[in-house]
Amino acid sequence: MSICFAVLLFAVSGVRAPAEDGYRLWMRYDTLADANAQAWRSSINTVVIPGDSPTMRAILAELVPALSGLLGKSIAASANNTLADGTLVVGTPSTSSAIASLQLRDALAKVGDEGFLIRSEKIDGRSVTVIAASTELGALYGAFHFLRLVQTQPASGNLNISEKPRFLFRLLNHWDNLDGSIERGYAGQSLWKWNELPGTIDPRLTDYARASASLGINGAVLNNVNADAKSLTPEYLRKAAAIADVFRPYGVRVYLVPRFSAPIEIDGLETADPLDPKVAAWWKAKTDEIYKLIPDFGGYLVKANSEGQPGPMTYGRTHADGANMLAAAVARYGGIVMWRAFIYDPVPGSDRAAEAYNTLKPFDGKFAPNVILQVKNGPVDFMPREPFHPIFGSMPHTQVMPEVQITQEYLGHSNSIAFLATMWREFLDSDTYAKGPGSTVTRVVDGRLYGQTLTAIAGVANTGDDRNWTGHHLAQANWFAYGRLAWNPDMSAREIADEWTEMTLTHDRKSVDEIVRLLLESREAVVNYEMPLGLAHLMDNPHYGPGPWGYPVARPDWSPVYYHRAANDGIGFDRTATGTNAVAQYHEPLRSRYADLSTCPDDMLLWFHHVPWTYKMRSGRTLWDELCLRYQRGVDWTGDARKRWDALAGIIDAERHTAVARKLVIQQRDAKWWRDAGLLYFQTFSKQPFPADVDQPTRTLDEVKALDDYGHPQKAKK
Ligand code: GCU
Repeated sequence: MSICFAVLLFAVSGVRAPAEDGYRLWMRYDTLADANAQAWRSSINTVVIPGDSPTMRAILAELVPALSGLLGKSIAASANNTLADGTLVVGTPSTSSAIASLQLRDALAKVGDEGFLIRSEKIDGRSVTVIAASTELGALYGAFHFLRLVQTQPASGNLNISEKPRFLFRLLNHWDNLDGSIERGYAGQSLWKWNELPGTIDPRLTDYARASASLGINGAVLNNVNADAKSLTPEYLRKAAAIADVFRPYGVRVYLVPRFSAPIEIDGLETADPLDPKVAAWWKAKTDEIYKLIPDFGGYLVKANSEGQPGPMTYGRTHADGANMLAAAVARYGGIVMWRAFIYDPVPGSDRAAEAYNTLKPFDGKFAPNVILQVKNGPVDFMPREPFHPIFGSMPHTQVMPEVQITQEYLGHSNSIAFLATMWREFLDSDTYAKGPGSTVTRVVDGRLYGQTLTAIAGVANTGDDRNWTGHHLAQANWFAYGRLAWNPDMSAREIADEWTEMTLTHDRKSVDEIVRLLLESREAVVNYEMPLGLAHLMDNPHYGPGPWGYPVARPDWSPVYYHRAANDGIGFDRTATGTNAVAQYHEPLRSRYADLSTCPDDMLLWFHHVPWTYKMRSGRTLWDELCLRYQRGVDWTGDARKRWDALAGIIDAERHTAVARKLVIQQRDAKWWRDAGLLYFQTFSKQPFPADVDQPTRTLDEVKALDDYGHPQKAKK
């Protein structure tokens, strides 16, 4: 279409097409065009949303434009309870007489405070749709669910849905610094704009809250786990309170990371010893101050005695002492403390993967009832693939919650497609065998295995102030996937990918299927070209490109050579009885399965074993050949993905299609970089040729080593 014609078209129709810059996420609400849409269109005419609270107003503000847009007709809204055929009624038994008349008490009790019912009903002879909940927040979640149905499911005059979230606390952790930067953030600066608050409130904060609430996310930790004590000063608490005011109607509660030494840094106390009464009193007073400003403040997330952060051990106390002291301060308000298990010390000869378990397990049962131990999915650090953290299923008297990383610190930042639902599915489905077969991580953390009452999940956010929120358009799918799994940890990765694609990119079935396939394959491809067969931590310093040869670091356990242990006799980290025996932290029969070379899954092989280069794999190939092949497979996928994405031109708007195509060029380049680095470097030990079906690198190891942090040639480095 020529530009003039396009301009004319908009002028005639009077409608400006919104820029396809990704800002609208999965909340696009453009008119649906297929036959199914026609059926939805005829079933909804008006919405009745009685009640005038901020949350009810938020529901109205969402539903009316959304349904008008999606259904391509004007949807009238009314706050009185007059019903007609095609009315959508939203509310609680106390806001809506129509809902009260349905006698839903038992059904509503079953879905709890945050759940909802969506039903096709006949009220006074009228065919209506009802979104009912016990609370306004439940009604909001129901409204978003209904919009998702309209966008992704066949219309039905026979709706009978009941939903409730599996976890009580569904949080995003923002590693945002007060200067606006984001630790491991790849999508611009902090959304919070601390320097403008509380005077200026960016309207974008409301859109953040909408997006989070649309998935059922109900909490945001505002500041970096590597915390600045300043975030607890009155000045910054007022800023946090301004954010909380925007989030409140959407049910997103704010949490903060307190720096453990804050009593010293803010008010000059002599110590931050958690057992010192003056210190405990300081935290109580500080907590009072916070709750005065933010009455629904959620509580604290703490990184203590880890990677240089202060903590109770700084004062000769234990993790339980520290956690329980803070827990007492927030307990009076119903707040919680999420105490991170990401703890490891540079003890010579120790195995980082085993340290958190060793440090924390002795404290099982010693944490206060409002403390939850926040444990990363894997025992090292958000690698493309790790086994599940052995703390899951090993501390039956302690409340534990998973922490997953949405931001792609180790999976290509915002340059690569790496759909993480598959990784999280693998993690949640892992069987810990803690109480025999079927003791999956999901059952440990959702309270079914040990009956823990405070259930929670955290995801390290991938959001920033880039116009498209996540840097890469397809990385939005990871925010979405996290939220969907936090609500329902049983959802399949395919289901989530399908929903997201339909809501965000296209309703064209064939194209949806193709995009879903790409998404589902993507994480495995990254594993293959970055760290296959259980390898981990092979990255260079900005955690982007490869650096298997190691680089100057302060500690051995931050260096790739510590992890891969490549040598002339083979490669891999021996975590069996002949090595660090970290495998003993897993329950039987998993322990033996991992410990025995012949039963250890290929994907975990080099995580648990040091294996000779000539070892015969299940495939019949030698380890060296298999390693080469995996790298090549990852690279091949990126080439293939480019072609498949290119074929979607014309289906997806040009703006987003081009942006993703450009990122795929980078991803393919990076995949080759990882392959060349890994294979050329490991070849110096294996001394084996590359197998025939693997592309021969066209550059030398020295040339690869000379590339800069982002894979560009530079004059001299390393
Ligand atoms: C990783 C990451 C750090 C982060 C840490 C944590 O090591 O690189 O930036 O602070 O995890 O989770 O605390």
